[in-house]
Amino acid sequence: MRQTSQISKLTSVSASLAASFFMAMSSFSSVVSAADPAPAAAPMAEAAAKPVVPGKPKVDPAVGEALYSNGDASRGVTACLTCHGPKGQSATPAWPKLAGQHAAYIAKQLKNYKDGTRANPIMMGMAATLTEQDMNNISAYLASQPASQGVAQNKDTIELGQSIYRGGIAAKGVPACAACHSPTGAGIPSQYPRMGGQWAEYNAAQLLAFREGTRKNSTQMTTIATKLSDQEMKAVADYMAGLH
Ligand code: HEC
Ligand code: HEC
Repeated sequence: MRQTSQISKLTSVSASLAASFFMAMSSFSSVVSAADPAPAAAPMAEAAAKPVVPGKPKVDPAVGEALYSNGDASRGVTACLTCHGPKGQSATPAWPKLAGQHAAYIAKQLKNYKDGTRANPIMMGMAATLTEQDMNNISAYLASQPASQGVAQNKDTIELGQSIYRGGIAAKGVPACAACHSPTGAGIPSQYPRMGGQWAEYNAAQLLAFREGTRKNSTQMTTIATKLSDQEMKAVADYMAGLH
């Protein structure tokens, strides 16, 4: 009997050892596989944390910067800087700011322009000239640039915009934008884009594009935009421009 209890004691010890080992491993692997660092982490960490797939070229922000700033005439790549501005700080609302946007989000958009789930004549042409490696390089470069700031312009709608952003619209089943885009508008890498500082006109146009179906690369955003009136879209887009 002593023998048996010894064994069962051993078994329970090894079982608990195995359990703590397993827990250690799973928390270890969740740290390692977290492709998304906390929003507070430097954007460069996002690119740096990407596992290097053997046989695949490494993501190189310096190569991305050169392509962003100069294009590549031999391959028909237009310099992105022409419209999106130096370091991703576009000077007019016609072109979205890209500085400080999450790398995986930018790369996804470029793929979506290429595959047509985000329809825009200008950017479909641009994305068609890029390889996946180009997209990843440019995205890593832009994510590492400091985000620019903006201001809300319309004092009459700022309260409405703020209440939608922070609390959604319960009566219509619209969730709080802050839940996914973060209370400061910094977004949550890598899926949820940064909103703070973006041109209001651009964000309002995107909400419309989701509602009208020209942008169909996010079922979450299509569902939300379908419930927003034009006035609500404009109010929340203007409010988001001033977030930081
Ligand atoms: C001729 C002007 C022009 C050039 C050049 C240009 N873009 Fe754009 N870009 C736009 C416009 C306009 C939009 C908004 C399109 C829309 O409504 O979907 C846009 C949107 C984008 C977006 C989506 C931003 C977001 O917040 O979702 C990304 C990413 C982007 N461009 C990257 C690039 C890259 C990379 C290049 C260079 C290879 C480039 N663009 C060159 C005009 C341009
Ligand atoms: C459940 C999560 C979620 C909520 C809540 C949410 N969004 Fe989004 N939003 C997303 C995702 C994911 C994307 C990126 C979609 C993609 O990959 O193209 C996005 C993209 C956007 C874009 C396009 C940004 C760009 O750079 O082109 C706008 C504008 C936007 N959301 C506004 C809002 C507003 C306004 C609200 C609140 C009324 C809101 N979102 C609530 C998940 C969410």
